Amino acid sequence: MSADYEWNPGDANPKQRLFFASRKLYTGYGGAKGGGKTWAMRTKALLGAYNYPGIRILIMRRTYPELQSNHIEPMLKLVKPELAGYNGSLHSLYFVNGSLIHFGHWAGEQSELEYNGQEYDWIFLDEATQFTWRAFQFLGGLLRGVNDIPKRFYVTCNPGGVGHRWVKRLFIDREFISGRENPEENEDPDDYTFIPATVEDNAALLKASPGYLRMLSSMPENLRRAYRYGEWDALGGSYFPELSEKAHVVEPFAIPAGWKRYRAFDYGLDMFACAWFAVDEAGRSWMYREYSKSGLIVKDAAKAMLERTLPGERIEATFAPPDMWSRQKDSGKTMAELFFEGGAPIVRADNSRVQGHMMIKEMLAKRPDGRPSLFFFSNCRQTIDDLKDIQADENDPNDCAAEPHEVTHRVDAVRYYCISRVLSAERPERPGGDADGMDYDEYMAGGGATASYIRF
Ligand SMILES: Nc1ncnc2c1ncn2[C@@H]1O[C@H](COP(=O)(O)OP(=O)(O)O)[C@@H](O)[C@H]1O
Ligand SMILES: [Mg+2]
Repeated sequence: MSADYEWNPGDANPKQRLFFASRKLYTGYGGAKGGGKTWAMRTKALLGAYNYPGIRILIMRRTYPELQSNHIEPMLKLVKPELAGYNGSLHSLYFVNGSLIHFGHWAGEQSELEYNGQEYDWIFLDEATQFTWRAFQFLGGLLRGVNDIPKRFYVTCNPGGVGHRWVKRLFIDREFISGRENPEENEDPDDYTFIPATVEDNAALLKASPGYLRMLSSMPENLRRAYRYGEWDALGGSYFPELSEKAHVVEPFAIPAGWKRYRAFDYGLDMFACAWFAVDEAGRSWMYREYSKSGLIVKDAAKAMLERTLPGERIEATFAPPDMWSRQKDSGKTMAELFFEGGAPIVRADNSRVQGHMMIKEMLAKRPDGRPSLFFFSNCRQTIDDLKDIQADENDPNDCAAEPHEVTHRVDAVRYYCISRVLSAERPERPGGDADGMDYDEYMAGGGATASYIRF
């Protein structure tokens, strides 16, 4: 060990020592709160920077304030100023031996642009269950570099959160992807290890703050089991726990000609997410296609949607969020008009979040015959995964969490569909206007609408 950095490995508790000693490509660590995970990461990162000159290390946390208080500030107290200097605007600690520790927070898809092309030897993902599977996969792609430094990905975690499912799969259940046609897509079980730790493993904390254990023990049952004991089944965390592969996901089939088809989308520059649905004779909906892409301007989003709608595929209506009707500053047009000009008239969906999410739940619920009202073709995998991962809002358990934002778009598209479908199904037939006396043309991007256009 470098004499530049005085550190006694005996300071680490036994679980932290296992963490330091792991030689696997992916090391999971933790499971409960207070086990000393963040401390272990910081310390390991510093040891790496001193002992592997030129190493590039990335420490990721979901938000910048967490990064600042958990990593940047404590670490700056530890490094000797003559050995490393911190650049606050680049969020990077540069060591005189050429090593680098970069502190990053994850802001969804735009972070992919920021990190694209970067290379790291070690990556630390602190509180990994706050990260999506997609973020984890993307970050894994940064683990490369032509040097002799072993590549390592360290993941700390508590149960619950948008990443609960992938962390549990890889580190707890150890269910690995195998048998893929492209062998590179397979996961090698030998690359993964997990070191469970609870607050009992952290003697330093128990000594310094005996009240911490009491605080964990007085939490509500499910949180206590998850955070105190690290039980992964205590907190699934999903807002739609009723969604199951068995009940709601089907292998794609040829859609009968008589079934009506609809689209619904959520639009933002960060993500355009579009969903295609077909409705059978019994009024059940089948989501049969999905498409999403970030960075599309309105015109290109409309084009992409039409290109993915097959010739001869008649779409009865396309439901869209109400903000599509706000006027753009530069063109003076609404986004709905731009869609219309692009050949895709759209229908304004109700944007009541809680009500809309309840409609999704209602359609996922089983009917008296034991089958739900909403199914997904298995090719709509991203939508199914987002529905499974999205969490309840901490402040309003009736609503979905709006963060992390990147798992909300596809769910929103499904919500616009479900709320439009249920509301219009409930609306009594009355030519020329709906039950509230509102003219249907108001819903439209520009003329030509008739009541039959949006009614199911
Ligand atoms: N080996 C250690 N020696 C001294 N203090 C430690 C050690 N490990 C953890 N701590 C302290 O215990 C507290 C909880 O540790 P932390 O790493 O934040 O836990 P976690 O991230 O698992 O919730 C922090 O104050 C941390 O500094
Ligand atoms: Mg921590």
